[in-house]
Amino acid sequence: MPPRKIIIDTDPGQDDAVAILLALASPDEIDLLGITAVAGNVPLALTAKNARIVCELAGRPDVPVYAGCDAPLSRPLVTAEHVHGKTGLDGPTLPDPVMALQDRHAVDFLIETLRDEPSGSVSLCPLGPLTNIATALQRAPDIAGRIAEIVLMGGAYFEVGNITPTAEFNIYVDPEAADIVFKSGAPLTVMSLDVTHKALVTAPRNDAFRALETPVGRAVAQMTDFFERFDREKYGTDGAPLHDPCVTAYLIRPALFTGRHINVEIETRSPLTLGMTVADWWGVTDRAPNATFMGTIDADGFFALLTERLARL
Ligand code: RIB
Ligand code: CA
Repeated sequence: MPPRKIIIDTDPGQDDAVAILLALASPDEIDLLGITAVAGNVPLALTAKNARIVCELAGRPDVPVYAGCDAPLSRPLVTAEHVHGKTGLDGPTLPDPVMALQDRHAVDFLIETLRDEPSGSVSLCPLGPLTNIATALQRAPDIAGRIAEIVLMGGAYFEVGNITPTAEFNIYVDPEAADIVFKSGAPLTVMSLDVTHKALVTAPRNDAFRALETPVGRAVAQMTDFFERFDREKYGTDGAPLHDPCVTAYLIRPALFTGRHINVEIETRSPLTLGMTVADWWGVTDRAPNATFMGTIDADGFFALLTERLARL
């Protein structure tokens, strides 16, 4: 089977970085056409810089990185330096990127790639707020029918919220964008907190990264050492949830996950529940299913795959 053509849309972010590394370590399964940066965990200038830092860490300065939207569609940007540090990639000391950003805007790259590649051959993998994806869909509605699959990290049902009591960060930052994406009609697979909170980087799992004794292994272990302090303190869990790599792992080994094809809609009006993914997990409405909402992960299998693939870089 040929590798899947994908575009990763991202707001690195330590967990985004690991998702990108996993994709770059898996060329038999993933053909990464490009990376589009979006404002989210940290402002756009930093997410666009961090995406290039990660490509160079993987020895892949050839991967085109595009800067996208620097603010949500209609709200002020909310960032998460309290989780990811002021650089967005705190933990390891990594050199500034040498590779340049592409000149084209990320939204133009998304639209033109989906129009130029055969219909149904390119998947989008958003790992941050959905501003770039929604802007592309608004400007070029024809691309919705050309997207093979949107596999995104975002939302929550049983886990409820991580930035507010009811909303997950990626959806909360730009709920209007999420609403556009979830109503686009493109095939949607959702890696929510319900799954990612079961992918905890425990000490033995992080030690396995460190034991690779490679620049990538060390950097990932240091990113996790930094990234996990927030979640350990907040949730009292034994390690941080490794959110975004669940998207890449799904592309490589979908059998690691199970979920349901259900209706998921986005709260965009209530100040109390703004950004909530209202997932009809129990089928209590007659709203049409629009997303495969993942609920379980084989966490040991996930970390075994991740460690084995990172060892290749
Ligand atoms: O809520 C977790 C998500 O928000 C992850 O994608 C993390 O990188 C941040 O973007
Ligand atoms: Ca992210």
